Amino acid sequence: MNKPRHTIKIDLGTRSYPIHIGAGLLAQRAIVEAALPAGPLLVVTNQTIAPLYLALVQTALGGRSCAVCVLPDGESYKTQATLGLVYDALAAAKVSRDGAVIALGGGVIGDIAGFAAATWARGIDVLQLPTTLLAQVDSSVGGKTAVNHPAGKNLIGAFHQPVGVIADLSTLSTLPERELRAGLAEVIKYGLIHDATFLDWIDASLSALLTRNEDALAHAIQRSCQIKAEIVSLDERETGPRALLNFGHTFAHAIEAAAGYGEWLHGEAVATGMLLAAQMSERLGFLSTPEVTRLRELLIRAGLPTEAPRMGVARALELMALDKKVLAGRVRLVLLKEVGAAVVTADYDPAVLQSVLQQAVA
Ligand code: NAD
Ligand code: GLY
Repeated sequence: MNKPRHTIKIDLGTRSYPIHIGAGLLAQRAIVEAALPAGPLLVVTNQTIAPLYLALVQTALGGRSCAVCVLPDGESYKTQATLGLVYDALAAAKVSRDGAVIALGGGVIGDIAGFAAATWARGIDVLQLPTTLLAQVDSSVGGKTAVNHPAGKNLIGAFHQPVGVIADLSTLSTLPERELRAGLAEVIKYGLIHDATFLDWIDASLSALLTRNEDALAHAIQRSCQIKAEIVSLDERETGPRALLNFGHTFAHAIEAAAGYGEWLHGEAVATGMLLAAQMSERLGFLSTPEVTRLRELLIRAGLPTEAPRMGVARALELMALDKKVLAGRVRLVLLKEVGAAVVTADYDPAVLQSVLQQAVA
């Protein structure tokens, strides 16, 4: 039997839960079953993932009856209409308060299924089974759930912690190359905001990560989840330090919106956004030029984009003003005080931001 290589606890009192990381875990009945309540179950997945991993999960559930809801694949389906399909499936399967949703997929599935669980019968359990690197290091952990609204990404959502997260490394073998690279952007983020030693390790281990060496991936996911667990345990609802997890994201959201959703993967936009935030940190005297150059080179070696679309400064500022971190009309930015230490602040000279954007997007 495959045991988890690592188990990390998210410490949130009665809402605490484990994150198990290891190869072949989706086939382990004891691990999958342990997190689930006794009532009716609904697996939510998509058309790409179902043929790859649904049978494995059904087998792990033994003889337990379990309804299935297979959604279309893609960010463009992260909508209220798709959410309606999940509610229909929950109703058809008579999932009550003693039941649970099982989210099998990447961040899109995790966010939709998580929000369905947060709202169905005023809140039922959700077990996250993330199958992309991005979902294993970020979206399945921490309880943010949402669907998009035409006015903006993730505008309809809730904080709803899962009852467990099972990150099966084996699922990453089928992940498209571009998706793997996008997930690495979030891994690099954790090093930049919280752990310079981890960043050095990522730098040294990049080719092992890109060739999907299991030991390297296991360590990258473990350290990323540890950092996220530490931050979420301090600030579940993002009233303070959790905002640091959004390093690069204010720029990234502008890039994703300006390019048209779906053109850039989220992790790709985060990569370029992190470089812009690092340039801003350099202009404010926190980072040195060699540190910013090193980040640019690391992102390029990881196959991630470093040039933002030329959307124009005014458009960039307009899009950045839609960020959820805006407070009293001021765009708060996550900046690096040094490599491995981030800060969220509105205390910067707007002319510096103008000048960074002028160079990047004008
Ligand atoms: P995704 O869910 O769209 O998955 C990427 C693609 O890979 C999809 O086509 C999917 O079907 C496919 N796929 C997934 N697993 C696979 C596998 N093992 N083998 C082959 N193909 C596989 O994208 P993502 O990057 O996982 O997630 C992005 C979403 O996550 C965005 O909607 C973003 O807003 C959200 N997100 C949420 C949080 C959070 O805290 N809740 C954090 C970051 C991102
Ligand atoms: N992905 C950022 C967060 O979970 O807070």
